[in-house]
Amino acid sequence: MANSNSIEQYRNAFVSYMERKTKVKEPKNLYDPINYILGLGGKRLRPVLTLMTSDLFGGNYSDAMDAALAVEMFHNFSLVHDDIMDDAPLRRGKTTVHEKWDINTGILSGDAMLINSYQFLESYPSDTFKKLTSLFSQTAIEVCEGQQYDVDFESRDDVTIQEYLKMIEYKTAVLVATAMKMGAIIAEASEEDTRAIYDFGKNLGIAFQLQDDYLDAFGDPKTFGKQVGGDIIENKKTFLYLKSLELAEKGKKEGLIHLYSIKPEDSEIKVNTVKSIFVNSGAVEEAKTEIESYTQKAFHALSTINMPEQNKLMLKQFGENLMRRTV
Ligand code: IPE
Ligand code: IPE
Ligand code: MG
Ligand code: MG
Ligand code: MG
Repeated sequence: MANSNSIEQYRNAFVSYMERKTKVKEPKNLYDPINYILGLGGKRLRPVLTLMTSDLFGGNYSDAMDAALAVEMFHNFSLVHDDIMDDAPLRRGKTTVHEKWDINTGILSGDAMLINSYQFLESYPSDTFKKLTSLFSQTAIEVCEGQQYDVDFESRDDVTIQEYLKMIEYKTAVLVATAMKMGAIIAEASEEDTRAIYDFGKNLGIAFQLQDDYLDAFGDPKTFGKQVGGDIIENKKTFLYLKSLELAEKGKKEGLIHLYSIKPEDSEIKVNTVKSIFVNSGAVEEAKTEIESYTQKAFHALSTINMPEQNKLMLKQFGENLMRRTV
């Protein structure tokens, strides 16, 4: 039975396919960083969603392998460039590409990964190829827009929660949505179901990024894999920050604004002070409510889809686990 596959099976099938498709090549300084970042693992969330969606819509999930690989390659490209932009030292518990090599290497290896991601789509018949690439390109542009807003917000002091939510929809959620929609397209799901699964993925992606922003401050440094407190150090205007401005008493609010206008050499006091404001203002509680609310929106979209109930249940469980994740 096609849809009895577990998450672990999709992930394993994907990883062995990826290993076959990404060979060691010359020049080494272009390809070694690519194999390095891909080999660091990660959750493989997006490719698993592509394969699973295709399977659950009655397709043969091996047909979705190249699309899954395109999405994971694009995701890894975006991380290499994102880590340059965010001056991040750690990714998946290891040194980031631009720190291990240098910034120029990160730029060019990232570029090659972006191009590679499109090449994986060339295996599809031309009508499917057309649908997949136009969706993929639209999404890729939105990710760039989201990334630019994220950077712009660092130095703006009038960011609203609504703007933040739009920003995370673009930088993160649309790719999760597209990962699923590509699986649906390959399985030849109906137009309506394809739209609804995009909506499911988008809302789940927003919840996912809200949770990621929470973990960026409160995750366990031993398991989270990224520098905990990195967003605070970089003055990222996350939900926790914006909600704290709304909720904190005047003195704390002014302190917070001040801390987000500086980048001290030793960041420990700043990070700890900010985290205590996030907790004591009630912003952490509000973030949890917001995560739950976007997860419920995702489940609502799911309920409109024409698919066996047991298949929907798999997607629902996936969403619930994502909401509770610690890595
Ligand atoms: C990291 O994505 C970037 C975000 C959008 C939060 P993931 O958390 O999916 O990263 P990996 O692939 O599992 O490392
Ligand atoms: C990353 O957002 C989004 C993209 C890479 C497009 P973040 O900058 O918050 O991701 P992390 O926290 O570094 O993984
Ligand atoms: Mg980052
Ligand atoms: Mg970033
Ligand atoms: Mg982050």
